[in-house]
Amino acid sequence: MKNVRYLIDRLNAEKRLDKAEWTELFSSFDEGDREYAAEIARDISLSVFGNKIYIRGLIEFSNHCKNDCLYCGIRRSNQNITRYRLTESEILKCCDEGYSYGFRTFVLQSGEDMFFTADRICGIVSSIKERYPDCAITLSLGEKSCDEYKAYFDAGADRYLLRHETADKSHYEKLHPDDMSFDNRMDCLRMLKEIGYQVGVGMMIGSPFQTAEDIAEDMLFISGFKPHMVGIGPFLPHSDTPFHSYEKGSLELTLFCLSLIRIMHQKVLLPATTALGTIHPRGREKGVLAGANVIMPNLSPTSVRKKYQLYDNKICTGDESAQCRGCIERRMQSIGYEVAVSRGDYNG
Ligand code: 5AD
Ligand code: FES
Repeated sequence: MKNVRYLIDRLNAEKRLDKAEWTELFSSFDEGDREYAAEIARDISLSVFGNKIYIRGLIEFSNHCKNDCLYCGIRRSNQNITRYRLTESEILKCCDEGYSYGFRTFVLQSGEDMFFTADRICGIVSSIKERYPDCAITLSLGEKSCDEYKAYFDAGADRYLLRHETADKSHYEKLHPDDMSFDNRMDCLRMLKEIGYQVGVGMMIGSPFQTAEDIAEDMLFISGFKPHMVGIGPFLPHSDTPFHSYEKGSLELTLFCLSLIRIMHQKVLLPATTALGTIHPRGREKGVLAGANVIMPNLSPTSVRKKYQLYDNKICTGDESAQCRGCIERRMQSIGYEVAVSRGDYNG
C-alpha cells in the first residue's frame, strides 16, 4: 500500500495519478494528510493568484425547471415551492447594483426553464454586454442544443457552468431520472468547449451512492477535460426531495478534493461554494485556505432568495446584496486575502 503523502507529492510533481492511486488517496487519508495537501495547494494559489480572490455575482433568475434530479430542491416534482421568474429589467437592476459593488462577472443561473428561449437569453445577454462591456457573462442554464449554446456565445456570453455531477455513468443514473442522460451531459460539455466558452464542470461530494472510485473517476475526468473552472461542494439534503434522509457530505473530504484539484491543475478557477459556506460557518474561508480562489456571492433580489433552495438551510437567503458583498470582504480580510475588482478570467 502506498503512503498517502507520497501520492500527494507524486501528484504535485507529475500532475497525474491513476485510478487505483486516486481511490487509495480518498479511502485512506487522515486529517494530517488533508492539512498537508491544503498547505501545498494554498502555496500554489498564492503563487498563481497572490492573495486576491475573484468574485462573481450570482443572479438566480428563475427556479422553474423541467428536470427532476433526485437531489435538487427546485426539481419539477417539488410542489412545495413558489416558482418565480425575474424580468429582464429586474436582472439588469441586479447587474447595476453588482457593478457598483465591484463585480465584473455576472453569473446568470436558472433551472431548465423553457420560458427562456434562446431569443430571450440572447436579448438579456446583449443588454448586459451593452451596458457593461467590461464585464464577463457566465451562463448556467443546464443542457441546451449546440445551436442554442452558439447563439448565446454570439450574443456575448463568455463562460458556461454545467456541473458534470459525477463522471461515473452508473452513479449518474442513480442521481437522475431515466429521462436524463450522462452521455448528453458529456456531449454538452464538449460542445461548450468547442464553441469557445470558458467552461466550468463540477460535482457534489458525498452525494448518495458515491464511492471513493467515483471521486477517482471525477479526478480523471477533470484531468482529461481540463475545464477552466471546477465547482465542488458537499451534498446537502433537501427535505422535499427523494434524498431527504441521506447523510450530508463531508466538509473535510470536500476540502481535500479542492486541494487535490488545485495541486493537479494549478491555474484552474476554484470556487469556495455556497454549499461549503452552508455546511460550516467558516466553510468558504476554509475553502480558500485549502486552495480555492473564487467566491460567488448572491446578487438575486432578497424577495426571491428563499425560493432558490437547492438544499436545506442555504446561507444568505435573508441578506441584501450589499450585506453579502461586505460580508465577503470581511471574511477574506480575516484570513489575509483581498477581493479583486476584475473579470478574473482563466489565464492558462
Ligand atoms: N446539495 C448540494 N448541491 C446541490 N446541487 C443541487 N442540489 C444540491 C444539493 N442537494 C448543486 C448541483 C448543481 C448545482 C447548481 O447545485 O451540483 O449542478
Ligand atoms: Fe451573504 Fe455573508 S456572504 S451574508
